[in-house]
Amino acid sequence: MAQTSSTAVPHHLAIVMDGNGRWANKRFLPRVAGHKQGVDSLSRCVQACITRGIAVLTVFAFSSENWNRPDEEVSGLMELLVLALSREVPRLKANGVRLYFVGDRARLSDKVQAGLERAELSTAENQRLVLNVCFNYGGRWDIAQAAQKLASSGQAVTEIALDRAMALAHVPDPDLVIRTGGEFRISNFLLWQAAYSELYFSDKLWPDFDEAALDEAIAVYSSRERRFGQTSAQLRDPSDGPQIKHVKVA
Ligand code: FPP
Repeated sequence: MAQTSSTAVPHHLAIVMDGNGRWANKRFLPRVAGHKQGVDSLSRCVQACITRGIAVLTVFAFSSENWNRPDEEVSGLMELLVLALSREVPRLKANGVRLYFVGDRARLSDKVQAGLERAELSTAENQRLVLNVCFNYGGRWDIAQAAQKLASSGQAVTEIALDRAMALAHVPDPDLVIRTGGEFRISNFLLWQAAYSELYFSDKLWPDFDEAALDEAIAVYSSRERRFGQTSAQLRDPSDGPQIKHVKVA
């Protein structure tokens, strides 16, 4: 669907990139071939977000639970990450993308950890789009690590303090969360941050999720009324109740 000037574009878009395995199975290819296509799809999606003026893109690339997959797939995803970094980082750099890797790095190999740090450092000056790649990430892990930070520094556990200790404290909460692949689950993604996100589910497998599919999701998002606990009447007449701050300022 074509974009119109009245379409509201999400400031922060988050995506569960599901369906790589089924994309590969349908073609009698190994699952890792699906993940390779997934990287290409992600690369196209980043460009599409830039041209549409989206400021933050957060993607779920490897969950805390993905370690339970067959060894071959886990090592394939690790190798793909290293390969994707060497192939994509120069392009991301040139396009003004700032990369963050979000998740528990302790279990990753030294080589992978060093690659993530290099990629973050080399894009640290960029300001056009923030790309958060959630890798060895889980929403429960994030809440637990934030609570642990507060406990070890003796801080009171408040919503604001927890929010500031979360792994995505550098960006506002997502406006729109898309899950591809036809499943209707959140799968431990952004459990804290998606409290008021609009959810959109697409039947398309991630490698097939193209610009037209993204525009369709944005058009649906744009047609939703975000009430943040208030009523429609209050939204029409802001003097009728407290002003709700929709996005936190990072
Ligand atoms: C879910 O599809 C996808 C993943 C677990 C990996 C997502 C990774 C990418 C899109 C590539 C980007 C990765 C890196 C390393 C930057 P699935 O395997 O669960 O598919 P299925 O539901 O069809 O089996």
